[in-house]
Amino acid sequence: MSWWLALAALGGALAGLGLAAVLWRRSTAARRAEVAQLEQLVERRAEQVNSLSHELRTPLSMIKGAVDLLREGRPGPLTPAQERFLQVVDDQSTQVIALCESLLIQAKIEAGLFVPQLERVDVSSVARDVVTAMRPLCAQRQQRISLDTPQVVPRIPADPMLLAQALTNLLSNASRYTTTGGSVHVRVVLIDTGIAVYVTDDGAGMTREERHRLFHPFATGRPLADGTGLGLVITKTIVELHGGELMVHTASARGTTFLLTLPRSRR
Ligand SMILES: Nc1ncnc2c1ncn2[C@@H]1O[C@H](COP(=O)(O)OP(=O)(O)OP(=O)(O)O)[C@@H](O)[C@H]1O
Ligand SMILES: [Mg+2]
Repeated sequence: MSWWLALAALGGALAGLGLAAVLWRRSTAARRAEVAQLEQLVERRAEQVNSLSHELRTPLSMIKGAVDLLREGRPGPLTPAQERFLQVVDDQSTQVIALCESLLIQAKIEAGLFVPQLERVDVSSVARDVVTAMRPLCAQRQQRISLDTPQVVPRIPADPMLLAQALTNLLSNASRYTTTGGSVHVRVVLIDTGIAVYVTDDGAGMTREERHRLFHPFATGRPLADGTGLGLVITKTIVELHGGELMVHTASARGTTFLLTLPRSRR
């Protein structure tokens, strides 16, 4: 009797296992189909953003080119009022061109198409170029900008263009969120695992809420100002694609330090 019972129990267990296997296979197939569908959607969205920002960028670049010619006085001298209006057109078109670039990069990140082209890079020299490029903007805002870097910095595997983009984002934030007359300091330091870059400002700092919102797309702390809230998401992605980390130390009204680390070698 107990034989029959054991056999029946075994049969039941096997049937249960078989059913579970069928369900599992079905749910795995369903999940795979769902993932494929989502991937397709992300890719399609990336393509749409890509073509939209291309289509916007071309006429905007032409507008900017025409404005540059007018401001150089090629077609004839401008009145002071015309100069002022042209300055507005120039500033706004520069801003929308930058927004198109950010949207393009963000779409590429989401579609997994953002792949760094690694070469042996001198981080110090990239930092120096970015600081030099930022000087005119800081001078306009009467801000001091300084760079502190060791004499010799070992070259590390990095994408120089992306690294420059990440540093530019951090420096432009440091300047944008620091009042007139403030200061921005960049420090390149050798650490055990590779290289660290500190970007410090003595500006507005962040409240706890602003700090929590960081690194979320479009979460700009100044919705009515000129930011779009993509800079730090892009910066963090660039750093992480290099195997590094991006950290922040900030306090309201006391300024902010962003720390970017890059490994000496890729694991
Ligand atoms: N150095 C800083 N000091 C104070 N607040 C900062 C600093 N850096 C970033 N923030 C806060 O974090 C928010 C997000 O920064 P992020 O660079 O991602 O976007 P954004 O500067 O608003 O726009 P953009 O896409 O043009 O960079 C900012 O709007 C600001 O509130
Ligand atoms: Mg920014």
